[in-house]
Amino acid sequence: MTLENIRKEYLELVKTIKDEKELYDLRVKFLGKKGALTEVMKGARDLSPEERPTFGKLVNEVKTFINDSLEERKAELAKAALELKLASEDIDVTLPSKKVELGGINPLNKIIEEIEEIFISMGYSVAEGPEVETDKFNFEMLNLPKDHPARDMQDSFYITNELLMRTQTSPVQAREMLKANGEGPIKIICPGKVFRRDNDDATHSHQFTQIEGLVVDKNITFSDLKGTLEHFIKAVFGENKKIRLRPSFFPFTEPSVEVDVSWGNEDDEENIKWLEILGAGMVHPNVLKMAGFDPEVYSGFAFGMGPERVAMLKYGISDIRSFYTNDVRFLKQFNSDRND
Ligand code: PHE
Repeated sequence: MTLENIRKEYLELVKTIKDEKELYDLRVKFLGKKGALTEVMKGARDLSPEERPTFGKLVNEVKTFINDSLEERKAELAKAALELKLASEDIDVTLPSKKVELGGINPLNKIIEEIEEIFISMGYSVAEGPEVETDKFNFEMLNLPKDHPARDMQDSFYITNELLMRTQTSPVQAREMLKANGEGPIKIICPGKVFRRDNDDATHSHQFTQIEGLVVDKNITFSDLKGTLEHFIKAVFGENKKIRLRPSFFPFTEPSVEVDVSWGNEDDEENIKWLEILGAGMVHPNVLKMAGFDPEVYSGFAFGMGPERVAMLKYGISDIRSFYTNDVRFLKQFNSDRND
């Protein structure tokens, strides 16, 4: 076969190539060890020494031509394959997307976080205690000995004679005081779940949350307590809110008060309505003493509030069960910043 024929044949065949495999076979056919050009080169033996270099040059030219052409074809095939792949994976960006529902924060957790922030800004830190508590911490260390009648105020879920589900977050007061080894200052709040044998209705639940507060230092007075609560209530509900302190009884505080917040029409003195949101008082000397503090040197105040009540008042929620039943229609209203 002459060089010119080889070239022609190659040009015919390369047009028909459809994939890499065929391209490879074509390369072998023309450039391979037993390929057409190798065969042609063998003919150089019959040529005179003067003719050989020219002949060799011609063969090389054809070889380079075929080689370049094969590379070009290879690139074309790759491009075509890529285009085909892209076309098959085409995404229609105008199609409507699937709606993804985002969860939101429960209003109760929201209010707990908000209350924490207010107290943190006043220099408090956040403490925690166990939900399964000992009789000692839930009652005895809080000035409620074994057969104290005030235990009836809090119907309890007992696990054994000595273990119960805590009925209040107040045991954390005793735990924190013990940790401090008789040395103030202590300034903590403690949010957490509490449990009582109550029948559930719109305003009662057998499980609810409390936020306990405790301050122990030298020269802590009742006016510190009142000022703190006033600041807190205005920070949560707004400047126009009024608070009312009513004398009350808790075995672990003396004197004790219950604190109501105004609601409804605050400007109309005669018709103000009140809702109780917390209990508070000066830490009882017995409680200080049992937890290792000298009541001659130290004094303190404590309070315990119900964040459910705070949220109900703030958001106008009338049923405490709404916080726990996870009705999305209810929960969504508190997450208007979400895109749902
Ligand atoms: N632990 C009390 C209750 O659950 C509330 C309280 C806390 C009262 C701290 C005074 C001081 O009713």
